[in-house]
Amino acid sequence: MLIPIPEVLTKTELETIQSRLAGAAWEDGRATAGHQSARVKHNLQLSETGVDARELGEIVLKALGRSALFMTAALPRAVFPPLFNKYEQGMSFGAHVDNAIRPLPGSPRSIRTDLSATLFLNDDYDGGELLIDDAAGSRAAKLPAGSMILYPATTLHRVAPVTRGQRVAAFFWVQSMVKDEGERRLLFDLDRAIVELGRGAPDHPAVARLTNVYHNLVRKWGEV
Ligand code: NI
Repeated sequence: MLIPIPEVLTKTELETIQSRLAGAAWEDGRATAGHQSARVKHNLQLSETGVDARELGEIVLKALGRSALFMTAALPRAVFPPLFNKYEQGMSFGAHVDNAIRPLPGSPRSIRTDLSATLFLNDDYDGGELLIDDAAGSRAAKLPAGSMILYPATTLHRVAPVTRGQRVAAFFWVQSMVKDEGERRLLFDLDRAIVELGRGAPDHPAVARLTNVYHNLVRKWGEV
């Protein structure tokens, strides 16, 4: 399931990140690629341990914390510190899969990558679509600056060549409290339905009962 999350960043946050990235030092993206993906990865990236990625990543994490849609869709247990990449004209990232387990920088811990996220940081370019393969075929995601797409990290995906301008984005992974994508999807649908029902009939006793079902399913499927 691809879940677009509109306007994750405020205008001020977006401008802060854009101006900082304009003067940042970019390096070859293959530095962090696995064996298979290094062969098809042609982009630039900020150093994972550099001060720019760390401070800008903090802004992104703070913004995610405000997003009810992100919380309910991802049910995050751990979020990988956001990374930043840039595709100049002609750059692309061929079909690849993200590593299942990623060591957290500066920590003995690792996270399991259940979900991948791309937060678009500009939109004045052509090409550069994120293409995600699922059972229905390949689906393209390209959102306005400040908006984000959340998708299962279990998918093969790629970034089409940029044909004009440059594409700048933040990306990261989420370990979810609910590992199974189907279970996460059921919880997401149930949550959306409860919210909608609660708006139309806030005092109906079924709202509380369905909310109870929701939390009992989280108890059943969630890990903390
Ligand atoms: Ni990827």
